[in-house]
Amino acid sequence: MMNLLTTSELSVTEIYDILAEAKKFSEGAAWQPNQSSFVANLFFEPSTRTKCSFEIAERRLGLNIIPFETHSSSITKGETLYDTVRTLESIGVQAVVIRHTEDEYFKQLVGKTNVKIINAGDGCGHHPTQSLLDLLTIYEEFEHFQGLKVGIVGDLIHSRVARSNAVALHRLGAEIVFSGPKEWIDQELLQYGRYEDIDTLTETVDVLMLLRIQHERHQVGGKTVDYHQAFGLTVEREKRMKKGSIIMHPAPVNRDVEIADSLVECERSRIFKQMENGVYVRMAVLKRALQQSEGGKNNDNSHQK
Ligand code: CP
Repeated sequence: MMNLLTTSELSVTEIYDILAEAKKFSEGAAWQPNQSSFVANLFFEPSTRTKCSFEIAERRLGLNIIPFETHSSSITKGETLYDTVRTLESIGVQAVVIRHTEDEYFKQLVGKTNVKIINAGDGCGHHPTQSLLDLLTIYEEFEHFQGLKVGIVGDLIHSRVARSNAVALHRLGAEIVFSGPKEWIDQELLQYGRYEDIDTLTETVDVLMLLRIQHERHQVGGKTVDYHQAFGLTVEREKRMKKGSIIMHPAPVNRDVEIADSLVECERSRIFKQMENGVYVRMAVLKRALQQSEGGKNNDNSHQK
């Protein structure tokens, strides 16, 4: 089964394989499945980047996209996620991309459907394609992960991006440090790295990964102005960053909260590069899922442009 549910399930070899495939797509490689393939994107939470870049990736691979909007589907009549996915399977869909509010929603599907499931974010759980596009962005910059110091800062407790990246980067040999309000630290994450004060972290990391404050998941008491001074990337902090270090953020960005408005597109920022890489990574993940559903054979429809 070539589902993609979490980064924990990926071996180091599989991670590098996906990154290599994504890199080839970024250089113009093309691939199409042997037979007409149908996919559906089921987004139960808002999204701009993930949903649109999956659609671009699907179109570039020549896939047929079955339009699906939760508000006009039979979900509104109480149909379950399981029945929705089984329905799509019955009518010929091979893969579904799902973003859902519920942590590990995929557990109700795995082993009960042959449709390939690609997780586009589950509650506060996992966001594997975001992590893979982050890894591609880092790899393009440094050409290795071993020993890189990566700082992950902010709303750690609600961040599926932090969890997916911490798991993957730890396995790839990076040194991980966390910062942010102490009450937002997820104790489970500390198995992958240590807490560091924001100024030490900012001055010593190779990669500064800022996280969005997820206002929709908790109340912060209207203290976002204080947050910027206490934990955000201010103009002053950026000036003290190491030569060659880069800034990342999964976006959407709360400008002047996690990062100063003027730094969002500064020389160190790779924020829009991350989004571009999202298309290539999602092409690679879709290819991996659909190749397997064709019987696991090595599809030779790949070619360089
Ligand atoms: N980074 C990310 O997942 O963005 P969207 O919520 O816009 O998809």
